[in-house]
Amino acid sequence: MSIKAEEISALIKQQLEKYDDKLNVDEVGTVTYVGDGIARAHGLNNVLSSELLEFSNGSYGIAQNLEANDVGIIILGKFDDIREGDQVKRTGRIMEVPVGDAMIGRVVNPLGQPVDGLGEIKTDKTRPIESKAPGVMDRQSVNQPLQTGIKAIDALVPIGRGQRELIIGDRKTGKTALALDTIINQKGQDVICIYVAIGQKESTVKNSVETLKRYGAMDYTIVVEAGPSEPAPMLYIAPYAGTAMGEEFMYNGKDVLIVFDDLSKQAVAYREISLLLRRPPGREAYPGDVFYLHSRLLERSAKLSDKLGGGSMTALPFIQTQAGDISAYIPTNVISITDGQIFLEADLFFAGTRPAINAGESVSRVGGSAQIKAMKKVAGTLRMDLASYRELESFAQFGSDLDQATQAKLSRGRRTVEVLKQPLHKTLSVEDEVLILYALTHGFLDSIPVPDIQRYELELYDYFASNYDDLLDVIRKTGDLPDEDKLKEALKNFNEGFSISKK
Ligand SMILES: Nc1ncnc2c1ncn2[C@@H]1O[C@H](COP(=O)(O)OP(=O)(O)OP(=O)(O)O)[C@@H](O)[C@H]1O
Ligand SMILES: [Mg+2]
Repeated sequence: MSIKAEEISALIKQQLEKYDDKLNVDEVGTVTYVGDGIARAHGLNNVLSSELLEFSNGSYGIAQNLEANDVGIIILGKFDDIREGDQVKRTGRIMEVPVGDAMIGRVVNPLGQPVDGLGEIKTDKTRPIESKAPGVMDRQSVNQPLQTGIKAIDALVPIGRGQRELIIGDRKTGKTALALDTIINQKGQDVICIYVAIGQKESTVKNSVETLKRYGAMDYTIVVEAGPSEPAPMLYIAPYAGTAMGEEFMYNGKDVLIVFDDLSKQAVAYREISLLLRRPPGREAYPGDVFYLHSRLLERSAKLSDKLGGGSMTALPFIQTQAGDISAYIPTNVISITDGQIFLEADLFFAGTRPAINAGESVSRVGGSAQIKAMKKVAGTLRMDLASYRELESFAQFGSDLDQATQAKLSRGRRTVEVLKQPLHKTLSVEDEVLILYALTHGFLDSIPVPDIQRYELELYDYFASNYDDLLDVIRKTGDLPDEDKLKEALKNFNEGFSISKK
């Protein structure tokens, strides 16, 4: 290899020309490697961890690995025109996203830029995407329900405002449907919703947004979207960006619901980044700090103390499992961070029990204290009914003679399963939920054949709305059951008028 003298001198001249530029290695670095959404830069001696950096092509990056000789950077957005030798500058800030009321009704990317073609978002407020979670003294315990409008959840695994409830299940078990229904049900409940779609097909997200629009839910919802074609860093920051948008409302005393659909894909994006940054891989090739990835995110959702305005952020993180394996690395991590989990099972889903909630393996550790009194009363025995039904069901398959008590339990169980089914986008008010569960647990459905139950339900709601709205009103206003004699009387009247379909 020959060294050309003129090349060297040209280079030296070039360098000398730049001498006046006040090139400061503490504040400005030089890209030494770029590829796959990752860059390394020399210089930048003063850079802080997670600081926002600006490349000479206008793209931004976040400082990740601070090493003796260089800095590992994840690049947000375009990286194909960043070259080795380009400059990269410190900004002195950590990354921020626009926040505030103007974001509501919009679909944005993880940088907070609109992707819905509805024009610029006019807000001058921003918030850092990473911030400290509220401490012990800043919180209070969950005490107000977040009604999902889904009977099985509100009765068996109730969610309170400020709670973090994991939703976990295989692919195509109705996870996204559950999220959308919960958001749709927040209409008129004074809850701002944020739906963070991570690594989902653009067409799926488009459908979800259409569904939300159709039910008028975009009036109080922000959608943060990081598509599968975006570089991994965008998927990685999406939930933090969504949380920052939620915090703006929470710290102003409002109630927020945030859905992360789903964190498995975010963890995979983080694994990709970490491997490219050459961090040592651990179990399932995830880096050592993958627990912190999710714990620092979910800890930011809380019910704030009254001193801080009493706002809340309820988080529903989603995790996708493989073949129902909830003991894999990421699922167990997130189970241990959250206040309970709702387990969706593929077998139930395909057998037609939808939503496919496995009541035995689903728990809510704090939501019970936030249930309204009426719901607590009717749901009390439901879980036991269901558990003993599942137990007896396997016996009953042998077809041997069963005593009457067992028969009764089986028949109640079958009806319970049927009542807990719910079609898509048909969320219920809490008084209707209480009504049907009261009817179920007090034996009013025992004489109704199982195939008639769905019709029974619909007719029951109509009947009460037109004849006994005063009873429903008691539940609405006081949260407690109305006079039970009156309620039973009303149900008896309805049962007498209900026509059982002939086979
Ligand atoms: N309660 C329900 N009743 C009837 N159909 C339902 C119900 N819940 C979901 N579905 C249907 O099941 C299909 C899968 O649902 P969904 O997309 O919500 O599942 P997912 O778990 O989010 O899937 P993915 O793994 O692709 O994210 C959809 O076509 C949806 O319409
Ligand atoms: Mg989905």
